[in-house]
Amino acid sequence: MSTPAANTYEALNEQTAIQLAVQLNLFPADAQLSCREIGDGNLNLVFHITEPSTGRGSIIKQALPYVRVIGEGWPLTLDRARMESEALKIFARYAPDYVPEVYYTDEQYAITVMEDLSHLTIVRTGFAEGAVYPLLSQHIGEYLAQTLYGTSDFALGADARRELALQFHNPELCKITENFVFTYPLIDDESNDVEPGLQQVAQQLWQDQTLLLEGAKLKRHFMTSAEALLHGDLHTGSIFASDEETKVIDPEFAFYGPIGYDIGLFISNTLLSALARQDNSRELLLHHVLTVWDVFSTRYRELWQANNQEHFADVPGLVDDQLQHILEDTVGFAGSEMMRRVIGLAHAKDIEAITDDAKRVHIKSSAALLARDFIVNRGQYRSAQQIVYALQQADQGVDITHG
Ligand SMILES: Nc1ncnc2c1ncn2[C@@H]1O[C@H](COP(=O)(O)OP(=O)(O)OP(=O)(O)O)[C@@H](O)[C@H]1O
Ligand SMILES: [Mg+2]
Repeated sequence: MSTPAANTYEALNEQTAIQLAVQLNLFPADAQLSCREIGDGNLNLVFHITEPSTGRGSIIKQALPYVRVIGEGWPLTLDRARMESEALKIFARYAPDYVPEVYYTDEQYAITVMEDLSHLTIVRTGFAEGAVYPLLSQHIGEYLAQTLYGTSDFALGADARRELALQFHNPELCKITENFVFTYPLIDDESNDVEPGLQQVAQQLWQDQTLLLEGAKLKRHFMTSAEALLHGDLHTGSIFASDEETKVIDPEFAFYGPIGYDIGLFISNTLLSALARQDNSRELLLHHVLTVWDVFSTRYRELWQANNQEHFADVPGLVDDQLQHILEDTVGFAGSEMMRRVIGLAHAKDIEAITDDAKRVHIKSSAALLARDFIVNRGQYRSAQQIVYALQQADQGVDITHG
């Protein structure tokens, strides 16, 4: 490739990625480097550069001007690389233990060079293989409270928050979420992926006017509530973990949105993995749902009290009202996410891996009905225990479709 300073975009390959690593002095001058493109996602290139003699590595992620898995027929803004690297740097201010370090960015080339996390496993993959990650929810609860409170009006003051929000105008990626999470799964859209055994449930949901109304309200809320800088895509495929460490990657969908969206995505994907489990470890995954809310809400209160720019911050009841509002949003958005994972385009890996058709369809039906309950009855939820209880009821076939 030409140098990053040259003014035209060019997609990297394994050779030019090594050249860039050399130019950036990521390794000692005499290092023998090798490189592999390891991107397994839908959107971008990810190059893993290593020095085999020492085991040291770096990651170069580059956005393509289109969606990687589709090709040039679906153009997508390169600006998503700027969103990702800026968001990673901001999140590092608030939660440095839980995000990869960014070494270098180049907007023209849509490149982010970052810490190599190859010693960790993507949680979605680990969950599908039976891992539990005992500290995951403790860490994610902490990450969520620090980043979401830290970028809110309460911590920053309204002027600074508005200023920051301007940097995260992310219309193309928000539109993907608006369509694929909030719209298509609720209608009979051709992009949906409904297996034959689930058709009847899907038809029933698509005719459900209460569900449509509440789903539409959640979509409005997602589109208009600039509460905090969200990760915007915090499913378990965006989290690396081991038994000791947790790192959140890939915030290219970052924008100012409702706090409950990030929490809801984490909870929803964890619940889906729990539903896919047939053994006692299901309880351990459900426990993550309790812990993430517990840690988030406790830390949010502490941060609220320690630093708050809001004149009315000490008015009794305000923080409780905020947390109740965030819980309702969390439940509702968990429902929207769950709907897309069983009816929409992008499904849950661990559920799809179940080869017994009856069992898989039962789990998907339970998830679809649970998702409906979350969307429609989100206002009735007062605790994370109720979320776990609702999943257990749905899995036992208790009718939760009314209300
Ligand atoms: N910092 C890192 N260290 C090691 N591996 C990484 C790192 N970042 C990404 N990867 C690897 O590359 C894969 C794709 O990364 P990422 O999810 O960021 O790409 P993406 O194209 O944005 O994917 P998506 O379609 O989910 O948006 C990850 O699943 C992981 O295996
Ligand atoms: Mg991505």
